[in-house]
Amino acid sequence: MMRLLAAALLVVTAACTTLDRAPEPAAVDGRAVAPILTTPDALDTQTYARPQEARVTHVALDLALDFARKRVGGTADLTILARPDARWIVLDSDELEILRVTDAAGNELPFTLGKDDGDKGAPLTVDIASQRQIRIQYTASANAQALQWLDPAQTAGKRHPFLFSQGQEILNRSWIPTQDSPGIRQTWEAKIAVPTPLNVVMSGERLPPDVVPADSARRTFRFRMDKPVPPYLIAIAAGDIAFRPLGPRSGVWAEPAVLDAAAAELADTEKMIDAAEALYGPYRWGRYDMIVLPPAFPYGGMENPVMTFLTPTFIAGDRSLTGLVAHELAHSWSGNLVTNAVWGDGWLNEGVTTYFENRIVEAIYGPKRATQEALLDFAAIEEKLAEVGRDAPGTALHHPEGVESSGSEIVYNKGAAFLRTIEHAVGRERFDAWLRQWFDGHAFQPATSAMILADMQRNLARSPQEARALRLREWIYEPGLRANVWRPDPAAFAEVDGAAAVYAKGRTIPTAAWRGWTSAERQRFLKKLPQELIAKDLAALDRALGLSRTGNNEERFLWLELALANRYEPAVAQADAFLSSVGRTKFVRPLFEALMGEGDWGRTIAKRIYARTRPTYHSVTQAAIDKVMAKQP
Ligand code: BES
Ligand code: ZN
Repeated sequence: MMRLLAAALLVVTAACTTLDRAPEPAAVDGRAVAPILTTPDALDTQTYARPQEARVTHVALDLALDFARKRVGGTADLTILARPDARWIVLDSDELEILRVTDAAGNELPFTLGKDDGDKGAPLTVDIASQRQIRIQYTASANAQALQWLDPAQTAGKRHPFLFSQGQEILNRSWIPTQDSPGIRQTWEAKIAVPTPLNVVMSGERLPPDVVPADSARRTFRFRMDKPVPPYLIAIAAGDIAFRPLGPRSGVWAEPAVLDAAAAELADTEKMIDAAEALYGPYRWGRYDMIVLPPAFPYGGMENPVMTFLTPTFIAGDRSLTGLVAHELAHSWSGNLVTNAVWGDGWLNEGVTTYFENRIVEAIYGPKRATQEALLDFAAIEEKLAEVGRDAPGTALHHPEGVESSGSEIVYNKGAAFLRTIEHAVGRERFDAWLRQWFDGHAFQPATSAMILADMQRNLARSPQEARALRLREWIYEPGLRANVWRPDPAAFAEVDGAAAVYAKGRTIPTAAWRGWTSAERQRFLKKLPQELIAKDLAALDRALGLSRTGNNEERFLWLELALANRYEPAVAQADAFLSSVGRTKFVRPLFEALMGEGDWGRTIAKRIYARTRPTYHSVTQAAIDKVMAKQP
């Protein structure tokens, strides 16, 4: 009996091996196809898709934007690569209304929409039989989680509505019926109809628009992405926007009223692209354009290919917050070229990018600014470790199924600290050569922690002994920091730390020094101030340093956080105004947290403000603040 079972098992194993090894086509219908990973650590539990059976390789959208009803609708044509015996394809969907599914000839295909699990959405299973090209006719919900429809009042121009999408991590299934997993790369194209005079940008090459009479009520825009990308990187924005070139291959879109300030702030972009290429190889996406969105955008930036999305809150007037641009640009290698196969390996996107960002900042603005920004990041890691404990599982870089990350301080900053440690241990030359070959060797492909570890062991370390001495495995899989961690030199903050200590003792404000400080130094000073301050002290700080009048939103935010945590009444109206226009979660969440931590005084204010501002936030920000508000005192 046992022998029979063993024999049967052998046959099954052999069959699987053959299937797994079946050669994959490099192209389908003349379009590039990227491989998928099949190891257990690359299994994405946040998708319903079963890509080994049937997967989407190309998406062609034909959609109309209905601003009055806040709905996107039309058709999605999917090209499918499937095992010969595959009869069904499973797609992701979230509150999509599926009207009809047909094959290429227009014949109806049966489909079922499964139960919505409230997190991943609902599986959309289509009975494709032998069909490998399907058309889905659908409408996205007015509450589609990826999309935010802005009333004219939420724009700079106040005359036209605005729409933008935010796909990462699993929100795009709310407006595109496809396999929404970072390991399933797809090429795509889109045709988007909007009411005149609105304009559209997407995260793909812009094709010449259809020619229509000038008085036509609608206009159609076309886009194409011929490189396979993870579907969270499909993005759209539409509104009254205009374009300004910045260099031969870069430019910026923004509302006309914002365009001058945006272009001035982004003047270093072309230099940044050159610096990034000099570091880690060619920029492979053609153009690098950006759009500066209205302040409701829930993130600082989003690395949508060829069209980075940016918050306007990075515009400080002096390019002091352009590390954000370096960051999103760096994702053109780490994240967009080489992509985490599962979100539990998000450090492969964000940690590597945070390291790369700092290298670009160093190249453009010099080592002092780079070290200061690295020091701010490093302090955030230590703060987080002190808060959650140095052995909290969520502080490992790799998060296996079921372990939640302790946050961006780990994924971003510890990830960057790891690479910086290795860089200093082996020297820049060796490190840079290794990182470049990592990007080259995995271009347009998904990756896992196990893959980067193996790559470091093989192509970076000179011997197994060196790999062990560098603690490569422990850095990736163990919580906390390793003993060999390289710390940025605190001397870069010596002056400001000294001034903070003096202030703590005798409330002497470094008014003159502040004027000469970099934004990183100012942020450091604000973070180092005593946590408890009386109204008189706060008033004096504000008067001397102009905190409530600053145009630098990172500094303004730190001021508001400090002031609210001390129940400083004059800051309430300032916070109200800020929270009424800015939707960036990084700012909004801590301000509501600060208020909610201040007893009845703060809770009453927080509830009053949020009752009014909640509808003005993107679903990501809403979800974050709903959590804050639900916490019991
Ligand atoms: N890709 C992220 C934004 C993101 C992260 C969206 C996780 C959804 C889930 C983007 O590149 C980013 O990191 N933005 C930062 C920029 C900062 C670290 C310079 C932000 O928004 O603050
Ligand atoms: Zn990022």
